[in-house]
Amino acid sequence: MIIRFLLLLDIIQGLTSNFALNIRECPDKDLGEACAAQCRLEYVSCRLGCSDSFCDTECLNAYSACVDTCPCYHDCPSGCEDCWHPICQCKDPETTSPIYRQCKSEAQTGLNLCMNDCQTNSTCFDSCHETFKRNFNRCPCMSGCPNGCPCSNGYVCERFFTVICQNRNDLTLNYIVSGSGHFKENRYYSIPESRDEFYQYLDIVGSAALNGEIYIFGGNEDRYKISRVQDCGIVELAARLVTEWNHHYGGIVTVPSSPDEILLCFGDENDITTCEEFDGEAVRKNPFSLRHNHIAGCLATFDSFAIAISGNFDRKVEVLGLGGWRDESDHPRASQALGCLSVGRGTITIGGYDVDGGTTNEVFHFNNGVWSNAGFLIEPSFHSTSLFFDSYFVSFGRGPSFNVAERAQWNGTFVTSSEIISTDSEDCDYPIVFESAPDACSQSCDQFCFPQ
Ligand SMILES: *[C@@H]1O[C@H](CO)[C@@H](O)[C@H](O)[C@H]1NC(C)=O
Ligand SMILES: *[C@@H]1O[C@H](CO)[C@@H](O)[C@H](O)[C@H]1NC(C)=O
Repeated sequence: MIIRFLLLLDIIQGLTSNFALNIRECPDKDLGEACAAQCRLEYVSCRLGCSDSFCDTECLNAYSACVDTCPCYHDCPSGCEDCWHPICQCKDPETTSPIYRQCKSEAQTGLNLCMNDCQTNSTCFDSCHETFKRNFNRCPCMSGCPNGCPCSNGYVCERFFTVICQNRNDLTLNYIVSGSGHFKENRYYSIPESRDEFYQYLDIVGSAALNGEIYIFGGNEDRYKISRVQDCGIVELAARLVTEWNHHYGGIVTVPSSPDEILLCFGDENDITTCEEFDGEAVRKNPFSLRHNHIAGCLATFDSFAIAISGNFDRKVEVLGLGGWRDESDHPRASQALGCLSVGRGTITIGGYDVDGGTTNEVFHFNNGVWSNAGFLIEPSFHSTSLFFDSYFVSFGRGPSFNVAERAQWNGTFVTSSEIISTDSEDCDYPIVFESAPDACSQSCDQFCFPQ
């Protein structure tokens, strides 16, 4: 076995020297070598599991593909410049890897808490340090996860979400929360002054992402305004909606097309069949009229087309094809204020309330022309904002007593489990939610922070 292993290493050493283009001159030589070394380890364990030459060849192909993606090799000849390989986050992790910084800062927080509990016991200090070292070494870019995220040592590289919301009272919510809920910290985004005597600037606005920017529309304060999240604040744009839009009535979704655009529909209670679209610069009316009343319903995408679901305590569903809106199967529940979300294959609805005011935690899935029951969240919710990632979605909504955010595992057709990741002590409708680095705008809290 040992001889076979050594032979293997010889062969590999020979191979890598062929793959390396100019490793000696490459600016990120050390990262390139660390990356290739990791591929080599994987190759060796792959080969050791083989019993025929077909398998050997597969391992070799995988090895070659692995090395090709490393900085200084085939796909990344200039090292980490224009290179997507995750190890490049580790080039100078204090500046290039927010997840490393977050992991380190959590380990440090743990250390401080641990030491505070030690009082005068020095054995206790030592054991706190041991724990800190163990936790820190598990971090992305450290010895337990040298290639950066994702880590194979059990450390989960979470996503983080920034949440901004203002209600009709004085409440402003502004925080960042991890996808697991274990980390939540306040932020301070500057928000323009309201020009209305009753409503805050962000009351009942809608938000959507377009080309990496988060745009914000309408709301009670000014039903025509368009704003954008910029640095650690919200900035109003010169462009205006052509039809008024308010999230109490209207739906909003980003539709992939060329170019992508944000579609806003049925946001004017006196003009419920109209949609308008925003491409990042200008707004124009969509030429097609909805066939049904979806007031307080929702808008998502289905197979890259816009889909309008329910609303008006009705069950109507229609899809915006190239020739206009066409009917699809009715939604199982006649409701309002439900959330909806494209989940790769198909579209789901989340919660909502019926004509008697009863809120639900039901999830329904639409695919191949059919609606089916797709499980339940923990809490009923309405006026929610949701985001989908391959195996789960997060939904930040208003429950019967307070705002609650859940992270629900999605297996393609069903919510297999869910957990509450955040709760707030007051109601706030349709929060603005977007993914961000864990320490994004953390400095903005130094001067002022909303109370937790
Ligand atoms: C000191 O701390 C260690 C480790 O936490 C603990 O096992 C030990 O019981 C403590 N000794 C005293 C006297 O509190
Ligand atoms: C998803 O979960 C449901 C309920 O547990 C199960 O019936 C279904 O077969 C699962 N689907 C897949 C693709 O695993």
